[in-house]
Amino acid sequence: MSDTVPVITIDGPSGSGKGTIAASIAGQLGFHLLDSGALYRLVGIAAVAGGISLDDETALAQLAESLDIEFNPAKTPDRTLDILLASRDVSDELRLETSGMYASRVAAKPAVRQALLRRQRAMRKKPGLVADGRDMGTVVFPDAQAKIFLTASAEERAERRYKQLINKGESVNLRALLAEIKARDERDSQRSVAPLKQAEGALLIDSTSMTIKDVEAAILAHICAMGISV
Ligand code: DC
Repeated sequence: MSDTVPVITIDGPSGSGKGTIAASIAGQLGFHLLDSGALYRLVGIAAVAGGISLDDETALAQLAESLDIEFNPAKTPDRTLDILLASRDVSDELRLETSGMYASRVAAKPAVRQALLRRQRAMRKKPGLVADGRDMGTVVFPDAQAKIFLTASAEERAERRYKQLINKGESVNLRALLAEIKARDERDSQRSVAPLKQAEGALLIDSTSMTIKDVEAAILAHICAMGISV
């Protein structure tokens, strides 16, 4: 029965705007939201906190199976979700660059990906789901009703991240950010399991010179064309 529940997948590299757009589209449709990157980030921070090596695939997979995670609608507008790990709100910690780097490392382990598969599919509930990540349309929900591949140039993505961090009062270096984004792109697209790539049938959107509103309009038009009522 669950396969009649509509899923919209939004995949793409870090900083392409998928998180913001996915949350907005989910809000407009009244659909659930899966931030799959947060799952990998959670495994990363829980491993580091628990003294588990980011190279110990078996221990990381066991951790991924047993993590006590809750995704709740955000109580404040600066977030898309409130994310709890063993009842502790870790939403801000998850957004740190270090958490992203841990996530990218644990995400390259096949056993970790396998352990998170069931959790991700279990989030497909009525009235529907918007799922953002790297392999939502290729591996996790290959039968999704609408698939989007959202990208932007590495320079533009570094610039967006730079502005976000400066607005938060953090001191950052644009060149270092660009180098990190390129390193993460390389690792996410070159890994042997579920690499970042455009799913067959996905609509490609390059948001380098588009506004968020333009991107949303393009996605909503595609969703409509794929027969999901908006
Ligand atoms: O989207 P994000 O920046 O929160 O993702 C963090 C890391 O997790 C990213 O480097 C790649 C990995 N990831 C993944 O491999 N598969 C997903 N579906 C989502 C994220």
